[in-house]
Amino acid sequence: MQEKINQYTTEINSFQPKSNDELESFRIRFLGTKGIIKDLFEEFKTVSSEEKRVMGKVLNEFKQMAEAKYQTLKESLETVENSADSELDLTLPGEGYELGGRHPLSLVRKEIIEIFKKLGFNVAEGPEIEDDWHNFSALNFPEEHPARDMQDTFFIKKGGENGDIALRTHTSSVQVRMMEAGKPPFRAIMPGRVYRNEAISARAHCFFHQVEGLYIDENVSFADLKQTLFHFVQELFGEDTKVRFRPSYFPFTEPSAEMDISCSICKGDGCQFCKHSGWVEILGCGMVDPNVLDNSNIDSKKFTGYAFGMGIERITNLKYQIKDLRLFSENDIRFLKQFQSEMI
Ligand code: DAH
Repeated sequence: MQEKINQYTTEINSFQPKSNDELESFRIRFLGTKGIIKDLFEEFKTVSSEEKRVMGKVLNEFKQMAEAKYQTLKESLETVENSADSELDLTLPGEGYELGGRHPLSLVRKEIIEIFKKLGFNVAEGPEIEDDWHNFSALNFPEEHPARDMQDTFFIKKGGENGDIALRTHTSSVQVRMMEAGKPPFRAIMPGRVYRNEAISARAHCFFHQVEGLYIDENVSFADLKQTLFHFVQELFGEDTKVRFRPSYFPFTEPSAEMDISCSICKGDGCQFCKHSGWVEILGCGMVDPNVLDNSNIDSKKFTGYAFGMGIERITNLKYQIKDLRLFSENDIRFLKQFQSEMI
């Protein structure tokens, strides 16, 4: 027995745990309810009474020694852990909050608004649920005219004072609301969401965003329109941007045009984005048709004006070289995070 105790004593003296787990195994091995010390006490019961006299003391001392060792080791491990904590450097900067970013479409809308605001344009908005009068009839789309098919409409309700109720197919409806509600001159841009019944693909979506522009006053000419839009694209895409106007047709403008800009991606050399033409269409525009002015109670003998309408998605695609419209509404955080630094 003495010999065993000697061996265990050496073992205990040299024990140096590296972790709490090792120390716990030590406690179970020596001090546990089925541990070595317990066994030694059992064995003690069986030795001769003579030996008991000597070994009683030895055994008790051994037990105290093991317990003391365990306590010391436990305390020293705790201090090691605490000292790891005390290495916390309180002078380090905090972790900070993760900020959200603006959506790319919001960034571009904001930029468009800023440019026109500097030219004296106000910002106006109108309803997304619109009636036939404001979306079509007042804008000179005749009843049953194929021009209405240019825009696949989501109808909500048949009939009503101002015709069928639908989701607006363009922001041109806001022009009418603005002219009906006020007196010229008008100089405003009208950003908003529009809806069309189209199959969703990389190039088409059932909702998207437009910015409408309207300027009505005495003696407004097509030259004013051209100069304003030319200034706009130079501000938005840079001074080396070229423009060209192509004749087009819209029921609410006469004459009508579509405006192309030199491709901001290849600078006009030709790339996939501009289908190797060097030009990309960015908006429709024209002189407001006198019928539209009359429909909104504006004297078309006295006032003239221009209007334009552009898609925010298209401009954003060009500015950031985004090729798939679906990215804008899928909320993929990896896509959105790319615009975080542009938050202003
Ligand atoms: N509303 C037209 C569209 O959605 C865009 C447009 C073209 C608006 C010419 C205008 C304009 O104000 O003059 O395709």
